[in-house]
Amino acid sequence: MTQTIRKVVFPVAGLGTRFLPATKAVPKEMLPVVDRPLIQWAVEEAAAAGCEEFIFVTSPHKGAILEHFSPAPAYQQVLEARGKHDELALLQAGLPENAKITEVFQDAPLGLGHAIWCAREAVGDEPFAVILPDDMVLHSTGCLSQMVKQYDQVGGNLVAIEAVPNDQTQRYGVLDPGPENGALVGVNGLVEKPAPADAPSNLAIIGRYILDPKVMADLGAFNKGAGGEIQITDSLANLIGEVALHGFKFEGARYDCGNRVGFLAANLAFALSQSGAGGQSDLGENLRSVLRDIMDS
Ligand code: G1P
Repeated sequence: MTQTIRKVVFPVAGLGTRFLPATKAVPKEMLPVVDRPLIQWAVEEAAAAGCEEFIFVTSPHKGAILEHFSPAPAYQQVLEARGKHDELALLQAGLPENAKITEVFQDAPLGLGHAIWCAREAVGDEPFAVILPDDMVLHSTGCLSQMVKQYDQVGGNLVAIEAVPNDQTQRYGVLDPGPENGALVGVNGLVEKPAPADAPSNLAIIGRYILDPKVMADLGAFNKGAGGEIQITDSLANLIGEVALHGFKFEGARYDCGNRVGFLAANLAFALSQSGAGGQSDLGENLRSVLRDIMDS
């Protein structure tokens, strides 16, 4: 029996320099995709997967993130007085009722592994999820929900993977793949950000993990890897043999919102997918027609 995944960690302390000047005063995780900030999409995905405790690894200048998930009594009163019930529900910012919010600070930019290690006390001794909000996956079943289902079968460490173009391996953690079983891929080894010539495959980790708490001790050794940073990829590789590691080929289209084209593509894809039912039912259709006009002009 595997344990339930109740906790999720969001490493959101980074500067977001690729989106300057937009990210001078606004954290990049607060940039909107369609109608909600990137971080809210991530929180909603985690909530849909059953998470109840939301751990933000952040830094002092990024207070807007926690503010977004805090009660807003003044705003609430105004909406109540105006009878705006739909809008009131939106103030919940995608959090389930009774959600627990935890904030920990990453005091230095020492890498993704270090950011995860900063959450060690909040995580405690249970398996947990990590979502990098930059990576968005569009599918009717959220990527983390898909992973939790697989995790229930195999346990251990589980990373979401996809095949990337061969010339892009230096952007990712890359698998040395073992045997495949349906959507699961065994892992013989992992390399963080290999040059294409050195990459053991083109199967790359994208920003979704389910992790055994044993990773925390390995991260706490503070071994530096690619880019001189403490890498979660290296700890997962170190633990092979002790903790089973699988790659999971998720369903859905992935958008890398860490760069401009990916961010704009995510906005278009998520907006275009909003047709049919719902309050903004005509968003997709309207956008499609506007796009046609732009492309034709
Ligand atoms: C991080 C991880 C990398 C992973 C990637 C997914 O890299 O270190 O292994 O493939 O996220 O987005 P970063 O994008 O933070 O450089």
